[in-house]
Amino acid sequence: MSENTRKTQLLSGDAAGIAAAGEILAAGGLVGIPTETVYGLAADATNAQAVLSIYAAKERPADNPLIVHIAEPEEMYEIAAEVPEAAVRLAEAFWPGPLTIILPRGKKIPPEVSAGLDTVSIRMPAHPVARAIIKAGGRPLAAPSGNRSGRPSPTTARHMLEDMDGRIPLIVDGGACSVGVESTVMTLCTEEPLVLRPGAVTAEQLSVVLGCPVRLSHAITEGLKDGEAPQSPGMKYKHYAPKAEVTLVVGSTEQYTAYVNAHREEGRMALCFAEDAPLLQTACVVYGEAEHPEQQAQQVFSALRELDERGAKTVLAHCPQTSGVALAVYNRLLRAAAFRVIQL
Ligand code: TXA
Ligand code: MG
Repeated sequence: MSENTRKTQLLSGDAAGIAAAGEILAAGGLVGIPTETVYGLAADATNAQAVLSIYAAKERPADNPLIVHIAEPEEMYEIAAEVPEAAVRLAEAFWPGPLTIILPRGKKIPPEVSAGLDTVSIRMPAHPVARAIIKAGGRPLAAPSGNRSGRPSPTTARHMLEDMDGRIPLIVDGGACSVGVESTVMTLCTEEPLVLRPGAVTAEQLSVVLGCPVRLSHAITEGLKDGEAPQSPGMKYKHYAPKAEVTLVVGSTEQYTAYVNAHREEGRMALCFAEDAPLLQTACVVYGEAEHPEQQAQQVFSALRELDERGAKTVLAHCPQTSGVALAVYNRLLRAAAFRVIQL
């Protein structure tokens, strides 16, 4: 894409970029915004028409609810109908940051934001440009990840532009996202607190703050059973999928590299850890070091996009760990692989 043919404006996250974003948002328009997790596609969360245009630009199914982003913790009282003590404690411990809390939906938020549910998910992002844009717009922002539905989430402004050029007027560039996977989504609207989507804030950390066990939804690692109603509608859709067919391979460095070397074929690439790369006899894309889940999280989505750019037809991905922060990476890759896993 050249500068000349580009239809969506790209501005840096300085005062001018923030002001331009604020104006578009206040007028009901859409803006791509940086957050510490992934780029978001933002609109005024109190304007039903603006919110509906998010679904159109993303080609997002109408039954998949959006997260409302706020600039100060106190704003949660205007968004939720009820704020339990647990939400206050979580906000104190983890906001601003990559935690989304689901609470009963307040009157200020139209049903379109929550795809008709009587709950609303709320997050206060840590990225200073995200919060400055929320303040400049003067309203809470509904914002899903800024990818076209089904594609890997964008972790740079350029990746968002690839998916959204010509569909929205502006993307504000706040640099590469530091976390790299979407926020942890947890609900306080079930009998016990439950994590619906794993992220950089882990269930162990949540349970320390809440002083009670925090369970993980089984859909995080298993997918939904036929006919099962998802607690989080996003869990039922094919996600994060590159064009290539991805398979997860579970094993040590030695096992994984030996397997990949023995199964080379035309158009096949490896998605591997830094330690694997020198041992492989096939083209590969690295997504961090084996013992550094934060690196893996930061790099996984851009690695999936790079595999597409390099024309991979099939991909053998070295499976990450399945606990702590690595669970978030595993969850995304498992979906990118449509649950295809080889155990060595
Ligand atoms: O890090 C993030 O959370 C990013 C940045 C932009 O903030 N946003 C993001 O939004 O990942 P999205 O729309 O791609 O993912 C939101 C997820 C979906 O799986 C959706 O189904 C779920 O959260 N969700 C949102 N509101 C919900 C609700 N009221 N009840 C259950 N699930 C909800
Ligand atoms: Mg998303």
